[in-house]
Amino acid sequence: MAHQADEQNPTIYLKDYRAPDFLIQSAELVFTLGEEGTQVQSTLQVARNSHTDADTALVLNAESMEVTAVAINGQALANTEWKHSDDQLVIQTSETAFLLSCTNLIHPETNTSLNGLYRSRTMFCSQCEPHGFRRITPYLDRPDVLSKFQVKVIANKDKYPVLLSNGNPMQRGELDNNRHFVEWQDPILKPAYLFALVAGDLEVVEDNFTTMSGREVLLQIFVEAKDLDKVDHAMLSLKQAMKWDEDTYGREYDLDIFMIVAVDDFNMGAMENKGLNIFNTSAVLANPKITTDARFQWIQAVVGHEYFHNWSGNRVTCRDWFQLSLKEGFTVFRDSHFSADLNSEAVKRIEDVRTLRAYQFAEDAGPLAHPVQPPSYQEINNFYTLTVYEKGAEIVRMQANLLGPEKFRQATDLYFDRFDGQAVAIEDFVGCISEVSGLNMDQFMNWYKQAGTPVVEATDSYNSDTQEYRLQLGQSCPPTPESSIKEPFVIPVKLGLIGSAGELAFQLEGDSNPVVEKVLSFNKTEQEFVFSGVSEKPTPSLLRGFSAPVKLRFHYSEEQLVHLIRTDTDGFNRWDASQQLAELAIDGSGSSDTLVSSYREILGQSGLDPAVAAMMVTLPSMEALSDSKQNLDVGALYDARTSVREEVADQLESLFRAVYLENQSNQDYQPSASQIGRRALKNVALAYWVTAGSAEALEACKHQYETADNMTDCASALSTLVNAKSNQVQALAENSLRDFYQRWKDEALVVNQWLSIQATSGAKGGLNRVLALMEHEAFDIKNPNKVRSLVGGFCGLNPENFHNIDGSGYKFLADKIIQIDALNPQTASRLVTPLTRWKNYDSERQALMRNELERIAQGELSSDVRELVGKSLL
Ligand code: TRP
Ligand code: ZN
Repeated sequence: MAHQADEQNPTIYLKDYRAPDFLIQSAELVFTLGEEGTQVQSTLQVARNSHTDADTALVLNAESMEVTAVAINGQALANTEWKHSDDQLVIQTSETAFLLSCTNLIHPETNTSLNGLYRSRTMFCSQCEPHGFRRITPYLDRPDVLSKFQVKVIANKDKYPVLLSNGNPMQRGELDNNRHFVEWQDPILKPAYLFALVAGDLEVVEDNFTTMSGREVLLQIFVEAKDLDKVDHAMLSLKQAMKWDEDTYGREYDLDIFMIVAVDDFNMGAMENKGLNIFNTSAVLANPKITTDARFQWIQAVVGHEYFHNWSGNRVTCRDWFQLSLKEGFTVFRDSHFSADLNSEAVKRIEDVRTLRAYQFAEDAGPLAHPVQPPSYQEINNFYTLTVYEKGAEIVRMQANLLGPEKFRQATDLYFDRFDGQAVAIEDFVGCISEVSGLNMDQFMNWYKQAGTPVVEATDSYNSDTQEYRLQLGQSCPPTPESSIKEPFVIPVKLGLIGSAGELAFQLEGDSNPVVEKVLSFNKTEQEFVFSGVSEKPTPSLLRGFSAPVKLRFHYSEEQLVHLIRTDTDGFNRWDASQQLAELAIDGSGSSDTLVSSYREILGQSGLDPAVAAMMVTLPSMEALSDSKQNLDVGALYDARTSVREEVADQLESLFRAVYLENQSNQDYQPSASQIGRRALKNVALAYWVTAGSAEALEACKHQYETADNMTDCASALSTLVNAKSNQVQALAENSLRDFYQRWKDEALVVNQWLSIQATSGAKGGLNRVLALMEHEAFDIKNPNKVRSLVGGFCGLNPENFHNIDGSGYKFLADKIIQIDALNPQTASRLVTPLTRWKNYDSERQALMRNELERIAQGELSSDVRELVGKSLL
C-alpha cells in the first residue's frame, strides 16, 4: 500500500535540482476562448541549454489537454516525432535553436479545480502558480525558465468585452462571428507561473499613480457591475503599497499598467501575476456596510502583499519550488511591515504572533512539519503553508533586526539589483545579508533547514551583594519528520530587566556601558549570561517583541506577570504576560481573582491603546491553549476556559458595561486604526457583558445588531447572540440569523460571514446546523470561500463541536474531503489539517480520527490529499 502510494506520488528532492535542458526565450500564444472548449496555439522560441547534448529530447509539461499538432520551424512533425503521454509532451529533435508550434485543446468550462484556465461565474480566468500553466499549453513549466510573452485573446464580443493578459495592450480588433481580439505584450521576462488571462463582462475602476521617477501608471480594478461600490479601499491600499515600496525599499513599479481582477471562485487569497493580479473577491471587495474591520485590514495586507511580489517574486523569482519562502516569507515580512507602518505596530505584531503560535506552531509540531526550505515534497501545492509563509517571514524579520534598518536596506538593494531578472535560491538572499553585514550566516541557515519550533528554557538568579543577575538559557527542538537530530539555532533574545519601579539599567559581561535593553545572541545548547550593576532583583522581560519564533519557558509567578502587565515598556510582552496569566487561571495553577483584578487595572488604564487593551482582556484561543498539550481533552479545556470567561464577566460586569458605553461613537465609519481599536474594545466588552447575563446587556446587543451602520458592529453583535448559552438568547439568535440572511442574501461575501458565524458557534448541536446549511441555497460545494466558511469554519475553528466524542465531526470532515477532492484537490487538501493533529488528543479521539484518515486513504485520491493523509498516518 505504502509502496503503491509512493509510485503514484514520487518524491521530488531539492538535492536533485538541475538546470533546465532547454530554455524558452519567447512565447507567443493565441487563445480562442469558447464555451465548449478553448483552443491554444503556441509558438515558442526554444534553445538547447549549453550543457544539453543533441540527442536529449525536449520534454514539455502538458496535463489535462489534447495536443492536436506540433511543428518545428514551420514544419509539421510526423506522429512518430512527438508523443503525448498523461502529463508530458516529448519531442524528438536535434536542433539547438528552433521555433516550436503547438496546437492544443482545453476545457475551462468543466475545470472545477480552479487551477489552469477555468470559469468563475460568467468569466474566464487563470491560476498558474505553481503548476497551472502546464494545464493550459505544453511548456517548460518551472520557475527557472523565464521568457517574454505575447498573448492574443479571441472571444465573443458581447459575453467577453474585456480581454486581459499580462503587460501592455498592443492591438485590438474585430473578427468574424461577432468576435473580437486583444493582443498583449509583456516586456519583462517571467516564468510561466506568473502568466494570467481574464475574459469577461467586467466593469473597471481607474486611478493613477506617479512613480518616484515621475512615470504615470494606470491603475485598474476590474469587477462585476454589482461590485463597483466595493473597490475604493483596494484602490487606496494599492496606492499606499506602491508608495510604501518606494519609500521603504526604493522599488518602483516597472510597467505602464497595473491591473487587479476580482473573481469569486479562487483557491487562495490572491495571485501576483505580472501586471495582472487576480484576487479572490474576499480579498479585494469592501465597503463599511458589508465588510468587517478585520477584513478591511486583511484586504490592505493582501493588496500590499501581491503588489510587493512585483519585486520579491517577479523581478527576482525562485529557482525551484523549494525556494518558495524566498518570495513568500520575504513578501509576508514586507506586507506585515507595511500594515504595521500604516496602522499600529504593536497591534500588528500581536496579531501576527497569535497566528503563528496558534497555527504555525501546531503545524511544526505535527506530522506535516517541514523546514522553511523543504528538502523534498510530493505535491508542491501542499507547501503553501504557515511555515513557508509566516515562519519564513519571522526568519527574514530576525535578519532585518540583526542588521538594523540601514544595513538591511543595503542588503535588499544588493539582492534586488544583483538578481533582477534571475531565478535564485534562499542562499542568495542570505548571501546578501552576509555580504553587507560581514556576519557569518552559516549557523543561521538552520532556521531554513530544520523544522520544529525551538524551546528555550530560562532560569535566573540574583545576588544582591554583588548586584549580579544571571540568566541561564537552554534550547532544544523536538524531532520532526525530516530529522530527529537538531543543531542549535541562532536565537536573538531581546530583553529588559524590570524592577519595582520600571526598567533597570544593566551591563552585560563584556560590554562597556550599561543599557536598559539588549539583544542576546543565544546560539549554543546552553548558555549563561551575566549582568552586573543590577540594583534590585528584577523580573526579566524576555523575547521582547517576540524576537525569535520560539517557545519560551520561564516560570513566572502570578505576581511577576501582574507586574509585567503593569510596568513593562515592551507592549508585546505586556500582552504576552496577560495571556500567560490567563493560561494559569484556565489550567488551574493560577487564580481567576488575580486575572480579574489585572483586567480591572487594564481596563482602567487611560493611556492604553484600546486595540491593545481589547487583546489583553481576551482569553487565549482554544488553539493557543492547545499548543504543546498532549492527551488533550478538548471538552475539559473548553469548559475550563468558559468558566474563567464567565467568572471574569460576572465580576467585572459593571466595568464592561461602562467600557461598552464609553466606546460608542457617532463618527462616520473609517477603517482607521484608532476607530478599529475602539470598536474592538467596545465589542469585547459587549460580549463579556452579555455573558454576565443581564436583560439590559441583551437589549443593548440586540439594539446594536439592529441599528449598526457597519458590518463590524452588526456581525459582532450577531455572533455574541449566536454564541450565548441561555435558551432565551438562542431564540433571539435564531431570529437575528434569519433576519441577517434576508438582509444580505444578495451579497455573497456577507453570506459567507453568515455561514461562518454559524459554523464556528460554540453552542451545542453545531454539526446538525452545519449539515442543514450544506443543503441551503446559499451553499455551493464548488466555491472555496463557501467551503472554507462552513466546512473549514466548523472543523478548524469550532473545537468543542468538531471534537464531539461520538466522532460525528470527524466523519463529516472525511466525507467532505472525499467529495471535494474529486472536484478541487487544492481546496480538499487544505481541509485535512484538523485530522492531521490526531496525536494531540486523548486515545479515544485519536482512534476515531485515525479511522477517518484510513477511510480517506482507501479511496482514489489526488496527489494533494494523498500526500497529507499518507504522512499523517506514518
Ligand atoms: N503566490 C500566491 C500568494 O501570494 C499564492 C497563491 C495564490 C497560490 N493562488 C494559489 C498558491 C494557488 C497555490 C495555488 O501568496
Ligand atoms: Zn505571496
